[in-house]
Amino acid sequence: MVHYLMASLWLTLGLCFALRASTAEPNKTHVVANVTHVEPNGTHVAANGTHATPIDPNASPKGNQVRPFFVFGDSLVDNGNNNYLITTAKANKPPYGIDSPTRQPTGRFSNGLNIPDVISEYIGSEPTLPYLSPELKGEKLLVGANFASAGVGILNDTGFQFVNILRMPLQLEYFKEYQQRLSYKIGEKRAKELVNQALVLISLGGNDFVNNYFLYPFSVRSQEASLPDYVRYLISEYRKILVKLYELGARRVIVMGSGPLGCAPAERAQHSVTGDCATNLQAASSLFEPQLTEMINDLNTEYHGNVFIAANTRLMHHDMISDPQAYGFVTSKTACCGIGPFNGLFTCSPLANLCPNRDEYVFWDAYHPTERASRLIVQQIMNGTHDYMKPMNLSVIMSIDSNM
Ligand SMILES: *[C@@H]1O[C@H](CO)[C@@H](O)[C@H](O)[C@H]1NC(C)=O
Ligand SMILES: *[C@@H]1O[C@H](CO)[C@@H](O)[C@H](O)[C@H]1NC(C)=O
Ligand SMILES: *[C@@H]1O[C@H](CO)[C@@H](O)[C@H](O)[C@H]1NC(C)=O
Ligand SMILES: *[C@@H]1O[C@H](CO)[C@@H](O)[C@H](O)[C@H]1NC(C)=O
Ligand SMILES: *[C@@H]1O[C@H](CO)[C@@H](O)[C@H](O)[C@H]1NC(C)=O
Ligand SMILES: *[C@@H]1O[C@H](CO)[C@@H](O)[C@H](O)[C@H]1NC(C)=O
Ligand SMILES: *[C@@H]1O[C@H](CO)[C@@H](O)[C@H](O)[C@H]1NC(C)=O
Repeated sequence: MVHYLMASLWLTLGLCFALRASTAEPNKTHVVANVTHVEPNGTHVAANGTHATPIDPNASPKGNQVRPFFVFGDSLVDNGNNNYLITTAKANKPPYGIDSPTRQPTGRFSNGLNIPDVISEYIGSEPTLPYLSPELKGEKLLVGANFASAGVGILNDTGFQFVNILRMPLQLEYFKEYQQRLSYKIGEKRAKELVNQALVLISLGGNDFVNNYFLYPFSVRSQEASLPDYVRYLISEYRKILVKLYELGARRVIVMGSGPLGCAPAERAQHSVTGDCATNLQAASSLFEPQLTEMINDLNTEYHGNVFIAANTRLMHHDMISDPQAYGFVTSKTACCGIGPFNGLFTCSPLANLCPNRDEYVFWDAYHPTERASRLIVQQIMNGTHDYMKPMNLSVIMSIDSNM
């Protein structure tokens, strides 16, 4: 029971920014919109029922184009794909989205914006649309896309209880399909360039513990392997996913690991007698994070460049959790929305407790951060020191890349 809503631990929500229609407007004289129409399942068909043919290879001159942004992974970064799927892992009921402009749920696991939304703000673009959204067509394709799906993990069997979610092989398959659609629109060469220039964010790992290894006391995975062996296996599988992203053209990838999993209100409620952070999950994330950083370092050496950037989300979260007052929060133990001890036993729903001021809480629901906590995390992603961002932070990356 209990774990039914979650994806990994942190997430925030996003709202559909009343369109900061950025200066990113592609050159309209060159763009013929409306190439395809997307079925809710992600399949695309030409408006006239045939395959779309390539249109105008010269569309969208470089100088005019905001950097595309692609997002992969779990509920921390899902902008609403799961709303198009048959799964229980959805944030589609109030009060999710209560602080978004529409005050309605958007599919994000937050009261408002989530981490990728805030990054989009810094890039100067609209929030990424879920890949399964029918609105992702025409010029919107140039903004990028969000392939993330709440409940997924590094492993295919993680989140099996959520049934129909976009596991990593499918997210990568959709990325390929997206690139074909982009090629139809702006030509193959330009599409490839845009993908190479894009910023990419991926968040994985939390669910491989929460919704797999530690889901039941004697889970299959925990019978199979010790925690250290399981973590090594996860890292080797995460590596394959990152290599695949590289092969698909990604050249700047921010990699988020798990947060301090044991401190999520859900884990305090379920796995800790005292209400302190649950020790087994804390052990998991302290094994996982350094090995992830090391693997990323090795990959960069192999590729002779800083393709992958390790965001130490564990440390970012830890700062807020260990001293919430220092960041203007009232509590980091109790979720704003939920039921049971620490509001962590059942997830946020119309029947749950709801705090009046979301900005006072680190956690929005049993696993995911409030918008305000997400903003603080993105501040570290932007400006953090080497302890937080290795080999460098996003503001440095953006200034390097702007000279490309
Ligand atoms: C759009 O493209 C045309 C043809 O290349 C060019 O003449 C025009 O200046 C461009 N407009 C903008 C706003 O870049
Ligand atoms: C998606 O939907 C379209 C139209 O409804 C259908 O033709 C296609 O087979 C579906 N694809 C999948 C993978 O379900
Ligand atoms: C775009 O496609 C939609 C749906 O197929 C159609 O109703 C609309 O007229 C098209 N717009 C243009 C500019 O072709
Ligand atoms: C459908 O659209 C494609 C691409 O615009 C075009 O090449 C093709 O001729 C159209 N087919 C029909 C039957 O209109
Ligand atoms: C996960 O599934 C994909 C395709 O469905 C498969 O290629 C891959 O080997 C699987 N990964 C593992 C670790 O079993
Ligand atoms: C990053 O630091 C710069 C310079 O100190 C500052 O102007 C900017 O607002 C900071 N950005 C974030 C997201 O904290
Ligand atoms: C991160 O960003 C800040 C502000 O932009 C900068 O001063 C700092 O040196 C950067 N640190 C690293 C390690 O990149």
